[in-house]
Amino acid sequence: MSLLEIKNITKSFGDTQVLRGIGFNMEKGEVIAVIGSSGSGKTTLLRCINFLEQPDGGTITVNGREIYSAEKKKLYSDAEIRTNRLNFGLVFQSFNLFPQYNVLKNITLAPELMRLKGVSSGAEKKKIRRQISNEALSLLQTVGLSEKAQSYPCELSGGQQQRVAIARALAMNPEILCFDEPTSALDPELTGEVLRAIKSLKTQGRTMIVVTHEMDFARNVADRIIYMADGVIEETGTPEQVFSAPRSEKTRAFLSKPAL
Ligand SMILES: Nc1ncnc2c1ncn2[C@@H]1O[C@H](COP(=O)(O)OP(=O)(O)O)[C@@H](O)[C@H]1O
Ligand SMILES: [Mg+2]
Repeated sequence: MSLLEIKNITKSFGDTQVLRGIGFNMEKGEVIAVIGSSGSGKTTLLRCINFLEQPDGGTITVNGREIYSAEKKKLYSDAEIRTNRLNFGLVFQSFNLFPQYNVLKNITLAPELMRLKGVSSGAEKKKIRRQISNEALSLLQTVGLSEKAQSYPCELSGGQQQRVAIARALAMNPEILCFDEPTSALDPELTGEVLRAIKSLKTQGRTMIVVTHEMDFARNVADRIIYMADGVIEETGTPEQVFSAPRSEKTRAFLSKPAL
């Protein structure tokens, strides 16, 4: 059984059909890089998977449990959607940290809201808070920022802020971590540190979908490439297949001159 099964996802905005039947499976620990020109629907796909958009058609299944079916969309409560969303973490191009909180608080805020809900004992709350804080510190170590726990976002470089955003997404312990062009807003000299952090998550066995324009990263880190064009998966395969022997003429044209 696959960890994630996406079947025939469609999505239109007004008269424009942006996703025209996207389907793929993903195994635990797999890293998929999604590539494709601007406007091909990559962000919309990630937003559908993360329940920020409701697909018009199709289903999303995690660990064999169907968590979204377009046919039933009117039946999902907000609470259900929030719960289902917990399967996924999303890291945006713009890091979106809370400027008024320090790094540690940025990471612990959401897990505290979730895990302290319904806990009334003061001692128990203190224990949970300490646990969450320790987990956050360990995540900061993973992304190489142990010494920045008390810093504020404005005191960090863009690359450091993005690594905090990654730690923050991991703190909710999602099954699948999604990245939407995580380095596009960064100066070129800062992209390496963020890509290295993502690569190190792969060695920990994290399951990740990374939308990226960084072709070297896609080629070297991903287990599988999905090339999207005009709202469909034009081609998918191992990096070796897609980059060295693309089957589709469109893929070939894109790779010879990626139109960003
Ligand atoms: N909320 C929206 N309303 C209307 N059109 C949208 C919306 N979001 C995206 N689109 C359109 O969908 C298409 C695909 O966009 P997007 O998913 O952002 O592509 P990509 O991330 O591959 O650049 C674009 O033509 C874009 O203008
Ligand atoms: Mg996009």
